[in-house]
Amino acid sequence: MTSVLLLENIHESASDEFSRAGIAVERAAAALAGPRLSDALAGHALIGIRSATHLGEGDIEQAPHLLAIGCFCIGTSQVDLAAAAARGIPVFNAPFSNTRSVAELVIAEAVLLLRRIPEKNALAHSGGWAKSASGSFETRGKTIAIVGYGNIGAQVGVLAEAMGMRVVFYDVQAKLALGSARAAPSLPDALSQADVVTLHVPATASTERMIDARALAQCKRGAILINASRGSVVDIDALRDALERKHLAGAAIDVFPKEPKHTSEAFASVLQGLPNVILTPHIGGSTEEAQLNIGVEVSSKLVAYVTRGDTSGAVNFPQVSPGQHCAAMRLVNVHHNVPGALANLNGLLAHDGLNIVAQHLQTRNEVGYVVTDIDKRPSDALMQALANDRAFVRTRLLPAT
Ligand code: NAI
Repeated sequence: MTSVLLLENIHESASDEFSRAGIAVERAAAALAGPRLSDALAGHALIGIRSATHLGEGDIEQAPHLLAIGCFCIGTSQVDLAAAAARGIPVFNAPFSNTRSVAELVIAEAVLLLRRIPEKNALAHSGGWAKSASGSFETRGKTIAIVGYGNIGAQVGVLAEAMGMRVVFYDVQAKLALGSARAAPSLPDALSQADVVTLHVPATASTERMIDARALAQCKRGAILINASRGSVVDIDALRDALERKHLAGAAIDVFPKEPKHTSEAFASVLQGLPNVILTPHIGGSTEEAQLNIGVEVSSKLVAYVTRGDTSGAVNFPQVSPGQHCAAMRLVNVHHNVPGALANLNGLLAHDGLNIVAQHLQTRNEVGYVVTDIDKRPSDALMQALANDRAFVRTRLLPAT
């Protein structure tokens, strides 16, 4: 029976999905590393991790039975994706499951910061009574600049527009503007017209410190900055300076250049103690709904791969969506992407007296992936030949259910 090891307290929704597919589930609350990880991997066809378990080339090499890896989160940098692909192991994640959670938090923070609620709240807790309208604004009619108009950025735009905000966005790629959102021609152009600037770009070389002293100077005086993307995107010292000089009226920061690795570790930031600044511990996407959705999304992808050879959504692998079996048997083959590999496979199938009913091929970098529906079960000799041939990385047989 196929089995999955779910580490790091993955949501129960994942277990339910695997159980429905007849896949045995073993769960553990902690992340694993070293020999304990190797031992755990040896006995399972699938592993589900979050961000604290690292799967390097050595771990993957020591897991000959591992079919696929599920990252029950957004990021996949904790897995050596190239090493996994080279061994015929697709890696899946959940790119959209917490999009809404981040977008809602951003909108809430925009409202709170424009009203200067963090400092009024702090004062009220310590016996103060800052009953004044001065410096407090509605979101309605204000301009929000969304930097990075991808999954989260576009959601923020939809919600902001529903609040009556004017939406401009800046993205390096041409994007379909939702609702009445407008693309800004450049980052300075977007920053210069915004009452609220919110960042939704990935951590890349091009986004590293893209909000530095110069970019902050391009923001309107009294603007609000929200960063729930990655800590590397903002020059945090320059931000502190802009807040202290009151060039910016407030900020909400969820991600930091240096974040504690565990909840027991102390958190330190140069932004601590500043008024009208919301600091949150990288929880933009952390809601019960997002965890449930992530559990369902990643487990469904793993089940589709195990049962149908479907690699849709794999982050390191050719994408093939072959649908249901259209013959008695399905042969799932990973091979080196070299000339003649498919002809070689089809020749071996023909030699074994098998008729190909349907075939789906995709390649990506060095990896070729082909799903072939055939009219009957291949001989053991053919399966052995495929296993022995160094042109092929791995081959699985999936009977029609
Ligand atoms: P996405 O990939 O859908 O969108 C990113 C967008 O940024 C793309 O449209 C891309 O073209 C654009 N972009 C890339 N480089 C750019 C640049 N130099 N200038 C302007 N635009 C640029 O990503 P998604 O899902 O919307 O996530 C956005 C960010 O949010 C990521 O950094 C992700 O890690 C982070 N995130 C944070 C969470 C949290 O808990 N705070 C939770 C989920 C995601």
